[in-house]
Amino acid sequence: MRVLQVAAEVFPLVKTGGLADVVGALPPALAAQGVDTQLLLPGLPAVAGALHGARTVAQLGPMFGAARVALLHGRLHGVDVPAYVLDAPYLYRREGNPYLGPDGHDWPDNLQRFALLGWAAAHLAGGELDPRWQPELLHAHDWHAALACAHLAMHPSTAAASVFTIHNLAYQGLFPLGDFALLGLSQRVLWPHGIEFHRQVSFMKAGLLYADRISTVSPTYAREIATPEFGCGLEGVLRDRGADVRGILNGVDGALWNPATDRAIAARYDAASLAGKAYCKAALQREFGLPERADAPLLGVVSRLTSQKGLDLLLGALPAWVERGGQLVVQGSGEAALEQALRAAAARHPQQVALHLGYDEPRAHRVVAGADVIVVPSRFEPCGLTQMYGLRYGTLPLVRRVGGLADTVVDADEAALAADRATGFVFDAAHADAVDAALRRVWALFREPARWQQVMRRAMAQTFGWDDAARQYRALYDDAAEARRTHPRGVYR
Ligand code: ADP
Ligand code: GLC
Repeated sequence: MRVLQVAAEVFPLVKTGGLADVVGALPPALAAQGVDTQLLLPGLPAVAGALHGARTVAQLGPMFGAARVALLHGRLHGVDVPAYVLDAPYLYRREGNPYLGPDGHDWPDNLQRFALLGWAAAHLAGGELDPRWQPELLHAHDWHAALACAHLAMHPSTAAASVFTIHNLAYQGLFPLGDFALLGLSQRVLWPHGIEFHRQVSFMKAGLLYADRISTVSPTYAREIATPEFGCGLEGVLRDRGADVRGILNGVDGALWNPATDRAIAARYDAASLAGKAYCKAALQREFGLPERADAPLLGVVSRLTSQKGLDLLLGALPAWVERGGQLVVQGSGEAALEQALRAAAARHPQQVALHLGYDEPRAHRVVAGADVIVVPSRFEPCGLTQMYGLRYGTLPLVRRVGGLADTVVDADEAALAADRATGFVFDAAHADAVDAALRRVWALFREPARWQQVMRRAMAQTFGWDDAARQYRALYDDAAEARRTHPRGVYR
């Protein structure tokens, strides 16, 4: 099957979070299983700069505010599958974050920037743009690519099916209703049972309503988003799609995240020889300016700093942790208030809490390798990759029982410890007291090195391979193609 993956970011070129890791790893895993997989990406500076051997597939425009748009095709340095790149300098040649301007606010023309992405995907699938390659299935990732699904639903003569993956339902791509005309979509989709959402245009709804199949990135999140607590107002739409919505757990790219081969960390190690891990811990303490103490349990955080990630809960439990003599290192960037709160905590406890604000890929590896515990206390978490990286590095995850965190970490309660199944620490309530109680259990287990190492080894034995996820996506693609043939999702009103 020929599959076009449509997304806004891809590791190692453009990354704001786990989406990039997925878009970097899933296509090669599919290709390894014989799926003819290509990417379609906006020509952000890092993407355009990495393109080589490119041919011009089509000259387009003026459209979506850009006088000139070229569709290019070639290879991208560091990316394993071929890619189409939308070269639209007016829309995409902007340094920094793909979604936000330097003022921290959304780019004012995000509607046009991502409308072009969906339009181009659907027209590639319609065979109008590239005579050499025509996808049989569009796989659209997150709201940025979702309009492709609406275009396909409006063109029943196009054979291509669509799959829409929700990486995070909280980011929906909402725009003023008055801007609808800029999308180039028929008015027939603009109503409350279409892409209108509380008097706004919702890109997310285009994916949820018009994709032939929907997936999200863990089985638990797939169930959670059908409820008001996690559904962000879209739980009804998701419930209506019933069994069309699947949960497929993300994998870990073992070529990038493997303590036995990782060149970013101070020493390499594996489950059979853990000495290198102690060395990584000492190196991390030095790097963050903390005393090198093997006997102090060291918590690590690598995270976007948003309320999703629940770091305020950790901050609430921090005084007691520090009081007991524990340490914490944080690598993160995001909301000013959280940055400020973390800065204040580091200033208050300079011997025990240290912080690096900003985005730094190699340092993220060093935190994951050097900490004893990786803390992910999220309010919600569609999948979460950092806890899976922690597992692979023998850095025990401390997580809240939500979404993909619940699906990947087995709590070290007495029964799980006795059965040698435990891989980390799991708490329930979104409250600092619950984090505190979990941290007490961390402390107790840390004082029993033999049992701690047993949990580390069990954690490191977890695989989370992309090959498994790719197999599930292939089955979903087959379902979507069958649905497109037999029950196409038209635009009915
Ligand atoms: P999300 O996509 O919601 O941010 P994930 O756990 O799925 O959460 O993915 C986060 C990814 O971003 C991981 O690869 C993590 O290592 C990386 N990451 C997050 N914050 C930083 C940072 N400040 N520096 C480096 N990498 C980071
Ligand atoms: C989103 C989610 C995260 C998930 C990632 C990749 O950013 O917040 O939980 O791991 O997408 O699917």
